[in-house]
Amino acid sequence: MRLTLLPLLLFSSLALGNTLNVTVLGAQNNISTLECWALLSGFKHSSEAGTAGSESLNLGKLGGDSTYTILPAGFNGGRHNAPALQWVIFLSGLAHITLPNSTAEAWVAGGKNGAILALDTADVSAFGHYTTYPSKEQTITLEIPLGNEGIPAHTVLHGGPCKGEELSA
Ligand SMILES: *[C@@H]1O[C@H](CO)[C@@H](O)[C@H](O)[C@H]1NC(C)=O
Ligand SMILES: *[C@@H]1O[C@H](CO)[C@@H](O)[C@H](O)[C@H]1NC(C)=O
Ligand SMILES: *[C@@H]1O[C@H](CO)[C@@H](O)[C@H](O)[C@H]1NC(C)=O
Repeated sequence: MRLTLLPLLLFSSLALGNTLNVTVLGAQNNISTLECWALLSGFKHSSEAGTAGSESLNLGKLGGDSTYTILPAGFNGGRHNAPALQWVIFLSGLAHITLPNSTAEAWVAGGKNGAILALDTADVSAFGHYTTYPSKEQTITLEIPLGNEGIPAHTVLHGGPCKGEELSA
């Protein structure tokens, strides 16, 4: 069981308004799912030079081969699994994610709410998911595998993708 939750103890001390909610392409019982997670690592005031005083949230040590991909307007990515546990950050364009065994779907626009977690690797999901890019511009993505720390500590807010009001204004 890879998508485990941390103890509720941590959850009770979490101020949900102070964290990042992300849409997660996960898997349960060998089938890809979409969920909205709140990361337990909340925003803090940065004390680092260059960002001091800004809201910043630690994503841990990421690792592995990362890619920057330019998908042509209208591209159809077909059915596939996440190649690794990874952050997919949509910088521009629009992705439409659908599932072979569920009616849940996600529309992810490039930009400030463009970060999702893609965790439905072939070992946990037999059929993966479909992605199309139905906008008139290129969709640019940055794919960054998770490091040894694995899936970030989180609580599941609900099934289905995060909704507008759960994302940054
Ligand atoms: C994340 O979702 C929670 C629960 O709906 C909400 O209280 C919080 O404001 C959201 N965070 C952001 C940054 O929007
Ligand atoms: C899930 O989707 C796959 C791919 O479309 C299909 O072959 C399979 O029969 C589906 N399984 C169920 C339980 O619906
Ligand atoms: C997932 O489903 C595929 C196709 O039906 C099957 O070959 C595989 O053994 C299943 N894996 C698990 C962990 O149930």
